[in-house]
Amino acid sequence: MAILDAEIRRGLRYVTPYKRRLAVILAINLAGTALALYIPFLTRSLVDDALLGQDTGALVRIVGLFAAVTVASFVLNFVSGMRYTKVSAEILFDMRLTVYRHLQRLSPRFFARTPLGEIMSRLNNDVSEIQRVLADAALAWLGNVAFLVGTVGMLLWLDWRLFVAAAALLPPAIWAIVHYRRRLEVRVRVMRERSASIGAFLIETLAGVRLVAASNAAERESARFRRRNDSFVASLMRMQRLSYLAGGLPALLLSASTAVVFLYGGWRVIGGAVTLGTFTAFMAYQIRLIGPVQGLMGLYTGLAAARVSLRRVHELLDEPVEVVEAAEPAELGAVRGEIVFEDVSCGHGRGSAVLEDFRLTVAPGEVVALTGPSGCGKSTVADLLIRHVDPDRGRVLLDGTDIRAVALAELRARVAVVEQGALVFNTSILENVRYARPDADPAEVMRAVERAGLGAFIGTLPDGLDTLVGERGQALSAGERQRVAIARALLADPAVLVLDEATSALDAATEARVVGAYREVMRGRTTVLITHREELMRGADRVVVVDRGRVVEAGAPRRAV
Ligand SMILES: Nc1ncnc2c1ncn2[C@@H]1O[C@H](COP(=O)(O)OP(=O)(O)OP(=O)(O)O)[C@@H](O)[C@H]1O
Ligand SMILES: [Mg+2]
Repeated sequence: MAILDAEIRRGLRYVTPYKRRLAVILAINLAGTALALYIPFLTRSLVDDALLGQDTGALVRIVGLFAAVTVASFVLNFVSGMRYTKVSAEILFDMRLTVYRHLQRLSPRFFARTPLGEIMSRLNNDVSEIQRVLADAALAWLGNVAFLVGTVGMLLWLDWRLFVAAAALLPPAIWAIVHYRRRLEVRVRVMRERSASIGAFLIETLAGVRLVAASNAAERESARFRRRNDSFVASLMRMQRLSYLAGGLPALLLSASTAVVFLYGGWRVIGGAVTLGTFTAFMAYQIRLIGPVQGLMGLYTGLAAARVSLRRVHELLDEPVEVVEAAEPAELGAVRGEIVFEDVSCGHGRGSAVLEDFRLTVAPGEVVALTGPSGCGKSTVADLLIRHVDPDRGRVLLDGTDIRAVALAELRARVAVVEQGALVFNTSILENVRYARPDADPAEVMRAVERAGLGAFIGTLPDGLDTLVGERGQALSAGERQRVAIARALLADPAVLVLDEATSALDAATEARVVGAYREVMRGRTTVLITHREELMRGADRVVVVDRGRVVEAGAPRRAV
């Protein structure tokens, strides 16, 4: 069938590992369907044997059988339905996990250009949509098809002439469904995009609620929310109208076929061509035909929606990974901490490159201060060192080994970067500090915290290290947040420490204490200090000035400043 196109087939890959469990579920479900199929047939004996034959014993027997078969069919459907829900949930988690793992490997560039709400919408709503269709529909699809085939078989067997008359309107009904599918898919896609844009809007403006309030923009943002919602509702209405048309027209045609059966079938009963019982059974089956046919039509539109969602999920998976781990990583052994930038060029695809033939050698144990105008590429140097991005040209070497040849986990255990905007998670100070080394005990954590100059602060907190830092560390001051990030880097015990304006929010006295402490930890190891502050530069072994992506000056602290 055309609907099982590349998109769906690609989605089916997640189903393959579960095929055996699915087969068992299917078998149980088919048994239930077979039983359900038997029920209308009982009406024939009911009318011909029990009612027309005036046989009370047969009446009781038939009703008893009816009850037993109904219960058994219910139980089988229940069991298969429950198991199916479980399996489909597992399949969908596999899909979510695959996407999540992929996202973890994408570079900061991807996250810089893709709204978080957009990603969340695909990971949450689209995967849920696929799950909904899969959970409600895939089993129903097989059940319905089996039921349909069985019913058609019974109808043919009961009175094939009547069946042909009843089926005459089926082809146009099917044509109508197929006709609407493609248009429906376009509508669904537009609707999903608009719904995602609402999510992105909400996340951005709520995360930035302080700016919204400070800029007196609350009303403006509410209006923007309303506009986005209106546009979503408009696309929802267009989608819904089409989906009613797509479902209603075929349903109308099917009802017309019931009228045909009344007319032609009644005529045949009156003429004596079939018994009343046969006609009644035929009607009973035909009525039951409507449900599965409508179910299948619903499934067809459901599948169209799921296809749209699958494509949106696949688009995330198709996002190329820029930083790729070496197939056979080189061993670093004991790291001395020599860093060499060898004619490195690196850009973000926006005009000219950020770094252009950037050359820099840092000796093991050296403290190099990196300075230069804002936007000259200092943070990019840090990103390159920990491989958030890779050079477009040139190489970055650690102890003479191209860092692209080193296992990412090893590199990131040796190089610690304290980022410019210190990142913390919404958990305790303890967990934030030992994030890179979860096995560290609280005593070690406390030592790192003291070195980072947070000891006194922690002492004033009733919960000490267990104090929660709030969403994005909002329950801390900027300087406290920075020191949590520094404590984390110190605990990681790296061979190379990169501090990107890591003490910019500290007062001079605190900064001096923190610098003294990490100096001690980093003795004999390498430190790259990105800073605009002269005091820090003065304490460095060497100052390197970067301008327009190149080293323009390097020398002993006094000369460079
Ligand atoms: N994801 C991105 N996409 C496009 N351009 C980017 C991206 N990230 C950074 N840039 C650009 O690259 C340049 C260098 O950025 P970088 O953060 O390295 O500067 P910096 O020297 O650290 O500046 P600052 O002192 O202000 O922190 C800037 O002009 C910035 O606009
Ligand atoms: Mg920077």
